[in-house]
Amino acid sequence: MTIGELPKRGTKQPEFAGPNYTLATLRVNGQVFPVALEPRVSLLDALREYLRLTGTKKGCDQGACGACTVWVDGKRELSCLTLALSAEGREITTIEGVADGDELHPVQRAFISQDGFQCGYCTPGQIMSAIKCIEEGHAESTEEIAEWMSGNICRCAAYQNIRAAIVSARDEMGGAR
Ligand code: FES
Ligand code: FES
Repeated sequence: MTIGELPKRGTKQPEFAGPNYTLATLRVNGQVFPVALEPRVSLLDALREYLRLTGTKKGCDQGACGACTVWVDGKRELSCLTLALSAEGREITTIEGVADGDELHPVQRAFISQDGFQCGYCTPGQIMSAIKCIEEGHAESTEEIAEWMSGNICRCAAYQNIRAAIVSARDEMGGAR
């Protein structure tokens, strides 16, 4: 492989991993990926740069915007603040793993039907948080949704439509409340 050539998904080559890499495996969306990781590599960078799962976005890279939200063992986590090696052996879910094949998740459908995005950059993180917000039972009112989604910033200020999408999906999901 030459500099500039993209590694195949899940086959990050040690020469690009830095001198202190460790061979590890990450379980993402039900698939196991072998990967060479330096201890300093964030889960966000491992997902985007090593596994080529670029649905998870890098906004602030310091835990302030929520664009990088994924699930680790079923709980929302900021992947920019999570070391990739600490996620070894845990179940990681990204936005690419939310739909059921071609069938979008009800929250994904609701973001489309309620126009819950403008530029779309924050949207993967919003959706990852929104699903958990509903499943955790924190979507009883728009005020409660606003509070439990407050870690997800939208620079386009699409908040009103994002909350409408969550209400709509909550009503569709029913049993998750
Ligand atoms: Fe992780 Fe902003 S990129 S919180
Ligand atoms: Fe543009 Fe949220 S839709 S940042």
